[in-house]
Amino acid sequence: MANDYWQGTKMRLQIVRYEFRNDTLIKPLVIRDDIHANQNHTGCRLVFGPDKKLYITTGDADEAILAQDLKALNGKILRFNDDGTIPPDNPFFNNDTARKEIWTYGHRNPQGLVFEPGTNTLFDSEHGPTGGDEINIVKKGMNYGWPIIHHQLAKEGMVTPLAEFTPSIGPSEAMFYKGDKFSQLKGKLLVACMRGEGILVLPLNSDKIVSQEILFKKTFGRIRSLITGPDGYIYMSTTNVDPAEGKPRPGDDMILRLRPSGSSNLMLTSQKIDANMVAQTSPVKMTTSMLIQQMCASCHGNDLKGTDKGANLITATLKHGSDKQSIINTITNGVLDKGMPAWNGAISKVDIDKIASYIIAKRKAAKR
Ligand code: HEC
Repeated sequence: MANDYWQGTKMRLQIVRYEFRNDTLIKPLVIRDDIHANQNHTGCRLVFGPDKKLYITTGDADEAILAQDLKALNGKILRFNDDGTIPPDNPFFNNDTARKEIWTYGHRNPQGLVFEPGTNTLFDSEHGPTGGDEINIVKKGMNYGWPIIHHQLAKEGMVTPLAEFTPSIGPSEAMFYKGDKFSQLKGKLLVACMRGEGILVLPLNSDKIVSQEILFKKTFGRIRSLITGPDGYIYMSTTNVDPAEGKPRPGDDMILRLRPSGSSNLMLTSQKIDANMVAQTSPVKMTTSMLIQQMCASCHGNDLKGTDKGANLITATLKHGSDKQSIINTITNGVLDKGMPAWNGAISKVDIDKIASYIIAKRKAAKR
């Protein structure tokens, strides 16, 4: 946590280990409390490696040059034993001109850090200066270049990112999906995006990113955290109430649970995942208008009055019938040769029924 009350006004990053017993955090052990922090560039992702060591990202605290300074803990990925002591196989352990905690350096503000299951390759996600957001493979002792190189720049002895994103996506937590509920996501690198407002999906093939797709773009706003639950569903948190960029909506911020919506052989696209909001203990279903915004608006428009990709459903004559059963049939089976997807399986029968009623009500209202 960045504490501005700690020792006067200067912000610090503090890392504390607790034990979790009977819903209570006990036995605090301060691992570090002397790392410069800043409102923006404080890094702060914590991850245990397959080697049982604790890896911690730190930001440059808005003093870029600290990232190249091996006597500073900023702009680094640090590595500790779980009791806060320093493992002797850290790359600078025997170097008197460097901090022994350092694993890698030259980072700007890494907020995602994750080991790939199976290969144990370590990946990070980082915020770049203006665009230039990065995904890197993190290797012991390497220099990731900030502020000397950034974007696609290259320099001897420094690492150019595996992927770079301009304009900015605002990458936060990264994870590999390990559950069994979304087979199409298995083994792919997922990155929660704040500025990009969605989840970036990156399939890998021997350490190369082979394509990219963004799920839930502009659906829930800024996404900060992302995790696979023991139930195999994906949980994520929004971050719309924090300064500058967020546009909070009613109920923000939220923890959302993603689960597949019905069909046993569902193809994974952003349009075919159903999101189920978890507000404390009582789950809230997606409303019909949220479903329409998520599944239909991209082609039929926010008001369903048509775009060049989909028909006007409100004020035009419907080619495929305007009675409820005809509309249900069209939504269920699609008009595949014209680009209207079949929603059978991706949207439940109950929800298709509700969407049809919604369209009919809007058509009636428009006639008045
Ligand atoms: C990928 C684009 C796309 C998406 C997404 C999409 N549609 Fe369509 N839809 C179309 C196109 C194109 C047509 C026109 C088909 C034709 O010309 O016969 C259409 C036609 C329809 C029709 C029949 C219109 C008529 O004239 O009879 C209905 C009803 C409809 N869509 C409902 C929906 C609903 C509800 C959703 C969301 C669940 C949705 N569509 C999502 C592209 C889309």
